[in-house]
Amino acid sequence: MNHSTVILEADKLVKTFGDSTALDGLSFQVTKGESLGLLGVNGAGKTTAMNLLLGLTTPTSGTIRMFGKDLWKHRIEILKQVNFSSAYTSLPSNLLVWQNLTVFARLYGVAKPKQRIEELLELLDITHLRKSVTGTLSAGESTRVNLAKALLNEPRLLLLDEPTASLDPDIADRVRKLLRKLQAERGLSILYTSHNMRDIEEVCDRLIFLHGGKVLAEGTPGEVHERFHRSSLEDLFIGVARGEIDAIGLKPL
Ligand SMILES: Nc1ncnc2c1ncn2[C@@H]1O[C@H](COP(=O)(O)OP(=O)(O)O)[C@@H](O)[C@H]1O
Ligand SMILES: [Mg+2]
Repeated sequence: MNHSTVILEADKLVKTFGDSTALDGLSFQVTKGESLGLLGVNGAGKTTAMNLLLGLTTPTSGTIRMFGKDLWKHRIEILKQVNFSSAYTSLPSNLLVWQNLTVFARLYGVAKPKQRIEELLELLDITHLRKSVTGTLSAGESTRVNLAKALLNEPRLLLLDEPTASLDPDIADRVRKLLRKLQAERGLSILYTSHNMRDIEEVCDRLIFLHGGKVLAEGTPGEVHERFHRSSLEDLFIGVARGEIDAIGLKPL
């Protein structure tokens, strides 16, 4: 019997945009200290799911519970304990790195902002970027600054939408190791999307393969590709993207 604390619980989430259905009954749980990957081709519904979980949009139907409470009823209280980082959103570009982090630290009501910012700059190995103009940073640098922002409020749940997109293999590896460390040391729970299969294999304890807003498969990275008789997760991904997977009787699921 698994007694792990459930941190996040999504139940039958549906999100439609006009005639199109971005999410079609997505249900899943994330426990304390667990890292769950959302995998899927472009348009599978990953970002829509993230946006719902961040309270940025409302589901057409279905419920989201975080830390045991309904997200919409306890939105402000819950979101204080959550944070996110995405390859596709950026911090104000004209501010210096420390200015940006200070603005967010104030927004989040961080108790000792200066000290916390220093700690995070060190943790992410970006102390030297303190006085850089945010808009001039390289992709790897700005990913790490974004992660520092995302950790300012000591979140219990971190939502990461393709955080390693456009990173070189060295920086991507550092980011993965850092996330693993935060999980182990602080019991951080992570929901993670990536098109990099190595990311998913290394960072995620479990994954959900989304396709057309539905769950195609769920399990550890190894379980998922083996169930589909594919040699790797990457091979499975390509099979799904090219519509070959239906042929082995996986539809509907
Ligand atoms: N604001 C929106 N208005 C209309 N359609 C949207 C909107 N956001 C997402 N979609 C549609 O929902 C589907 C899922 O998109 P998305 O969640 O961005 O997928 P992913 O992140 O997996 O690539 C796509 O078909 C996309 O076109
Ligand atoms: Mg997306």
